[in-house]
Amino acid sequence: MRFVELIAAAALGALHAQPTIAAVPNPPAPEPVEIIELPLPPVTTDSCTPDINPRGTGCINQGIYGEGFQSGSFLPDGRHIVAYVTFTGAPDAPNPASIYNGSQIILIKTDGTSFPNGDPWKCVTCGVPAENSQGTSDTWDYPHAFQDGKRLLFGTNIADCGEYSLIDSECTPERLFIYPIRWNVTPDGSGAGGAIREQRIHPDNVHFGFSSFEITNGAISQFGYFSRLQFNPSPTTGEPLVPRYDLVNVTTLYSPEVTPPWTVDGDQIVFNPLTNIVGELRGFSGRGGEVTYIGYSTESCNIDLYAAELATGSVRRLTAHPEYADPVDISPDDQWTAVMDTRGSDRDMFMAGMRGVPPLIDMVATTVASSVRNNHQRRFFQLYIIDRYGDRGDYFGQKVNAAGSGVAGSGAINDPEWNGRADPRWSPDGTQLAYWQDITASPACGGVNPLPCPNSTEPGGRYVRFMLATFTSRKPYTLPRVEPVSDVVPWGTPYVPGATVPTLPRIPEGTYTLVGTASGSAKVTITDNTDASSIKSVAVQHTDYSDDGINFLNGYENYTRSNPSYTLEIGEWYSDLVQTGETNSTKKTSPGGFHVSIDTFVNIFEANGTLTTTVDDNVYLQPLNYS
Ligand SMILES: *[C@@H]1O[C@H](CO)[C@@H](O)[C@H](O)[C@H]1NC(C)=O
Ligand SMILES: *[C@@H]1O[C@H](CO)[C@@H](O)[C@H](O)[C@H]1NC(C)=O
Ligand SMILES: *[C@@H]1O[C@H](CO)[C@@H](O)[C@H](O)[C@H]1NC(C)=O
Ligand SMILES: *[C@@H]1O[C@H](CO)[C@@H](O)[C@H](O)[C@H]1NC(C)=O
Ligand SMILES: *[C@@H]1O[C@H](CO)[C@@H](O)[C@H](O)[C@H]1NC(C)=O
Ligand SMILES: *[C@@H]1O[C@H](CO)[C@@H](O)[C@H](O)[C@H]1NC(C)=O
Repeated sequence: MRFVELIAAAALGALHAQPTIAAVPNPPAPEPVEIIELPLPPVTTDSCTPDINPRGTGCINQGIYGEGFQSGSFLPDGRHIVAYVTFTGAPDAPNPASIYNGSQIILIKTDGTSFPNGDPWKCVTCGVPAENSQGTSDTWDYPHAFQDGKRLLFGTNIADCGEYSLIDSECTPERLFIYPIRWNVTPDGSGAGGAIREQRIHPDNVHFGFSSFEITNGAISQFGYFSRLQFNPSPTTGEPLVPRYDLVNVTTLYSPEVTPPWTVDGDQIVFNPLTNIVGELRGFSGRGGEVTYIGYSTESCNIDLYAAELATGSVRRLTAHPEYADPVDISPDDQWTAVMDTRGSDRDMFMAGMRGVPPLIDMVATTVASSVRNNHQRRFFQLYIIDRYGDRGDYFGQKVNAAGSGVAGSGAINDPEWNGRADPRWSPDGTQLAYWQDITASPACGGVNPLPCPNSTEPGGRYVRFMLATFTSRKPYTLPRVEPVSDVVPWGTPYVPGATVPTLPRIPEGTYTLVGTASGSAKVTITDNTDASSIKSVAVQHTDYSDDGINFLNGYENYTRSNPSYTLEIGEWYSDLVQTGETNSTKKTSPGGFHVSIDTFVNIFEANGTLTTTVDDNVYLQPLNYS
């Protein structure tokens, strides 16, 4: 339909490095999916008595907002996943010192069988002696098993059962060691190391990706890094001074040599899509050749996932639907992308529904554009799979959890109150996806919020559920191990401990012309803040602007940003855009403009005025305040 050419061109661009340019195939037909819920320990809000768990292997809390819970990767056998849960309610006397307490990592059977004690789960970190886990951090997110089945990453720690498989009874708490991961950020190797976020193990299991963010000039800047994990049994500098994994050969996934999204050529401004500047790293491709990340938008207010080839820097756009995508997992054979996406919810269509708008105001509007996707802790994500060639034409992937009554609060597979969370994970044989959801809870509903709160129908009123989707028509595959990739990422910058965080290039204040690829142009006025540290506003006037020669854009749009604090963003937005051609769409603010504020750490949407997008017969409105 619309912008087929644009998307196909992007997909072809990604294939350019290959000797022959393969044609983009027709989209795949929808495939059958079976979904079951995975078992979890029993829930209690009080004491964990033998009545609740007769085996004495603990009880978990309800997991309100999903806090303290996360499902993770499969083990290499494809019959277990790793997960982060929170135990609660120590058993009454005579056993007050339960090891099933607080934050822990468990393994969950995915094939309906049980561990020898009869439980379908096994806690691997419960009861590990303190001397086996010195210097570890209290971080538990993104649990991920290594290919040897003996080690796993959780938070910024690596658990290691030595010669034993994590699933074996012989992998006892006494045999498990937990080591911290340290990123050295000082020239002399001293100090506690840098903050590591969005940590992911590379499929070769010797490399490691992460993001870190800094507050510079009152604004958050985030960079992705690629590194090698090196076990250091007896470090001599830096804290913690315990056996640990050091990150060595660290590369910042950004270089001043990389062409930024916007450049200036005389009085023209030029757009360079598919830039390999990695801010928030999201993981790696199945065979490990690519790093995935949320990149600079290709179309205005449309936040997408991209994959950059580590060896060459060549970029693929993984998603193109106007809605927001973030958690992602590429299948082990690299043929499928699983995403948690707001597509289908219409959450972001009021600002992103008009396609093919060059991402000019995005120089200042991206923080707001990427924050509307959530309300408080509520995600509006559902799980989709998209083939490797991406969204195109009428194809926007397949919703995985599509079956069911769709009734809010019913607990159906497709209950819209159950919100997808990070990350979905492919099974090693490519036939299954493990994912998890949490149910909307106050203050994302109830009170001043116009949305009513649903009640959980899960055991114990649990707010989280871990799910397993099976693609029943797929043939399982067995892939060879991923060979170690190079330490060197030629398009990045080797990280030198103590180096200052790079500053991303930006367009100087001024008035420029953006020439449409097919016709017309846009006049762009960029204004800096008074201290000239950052861009304050971008104003655009489009005249018959077209990149595809099919749809033509006229009208103006401007956006002014202010930041009373580094997490609070206020946007003053004026739009009157009209697109005609194959698609007729409009994007308009109410007469006094649209004034939005959002705290990026809390994500509560509040606005005065309206911003409405129409696409042919569809009308998309902004979310209600607080909802
Ligand atoms: C359970 O965990 C809490 C918080 O980490 C701790 O204070 C408490 O001592 C633990 N209880 C037992 C019985 O280990
Ligand atoms: C990687 O780090 C190790 C240890 O610091 C060093 O010996 C090696 O030369 C580095 N390799 C590259 C490619 O920089
Ligand atoms: C949830 O349960 C409470 C208590 O039983 C009830 O008052 C409320 O109406 C229920 N909410 C919904 C949306 O069913
Ligand atoms: C944006 O447009 C509005 C309405 O035309 C106008 O009042 C305002 O001055 C413009 N702001 C900028 C920064 O161009
Ligand atoms: C778009 O508008 C034009 C002119 O009004 C009309 O001829 C055309 O049918 C419209 N296209 C769609 C898809 O509605
Ligand atoms: C909306 O208007 C109210 C009342 O004038 C004001 O207090 C609030 O700050 C405004 N919010 C935004 C996002 O502009």
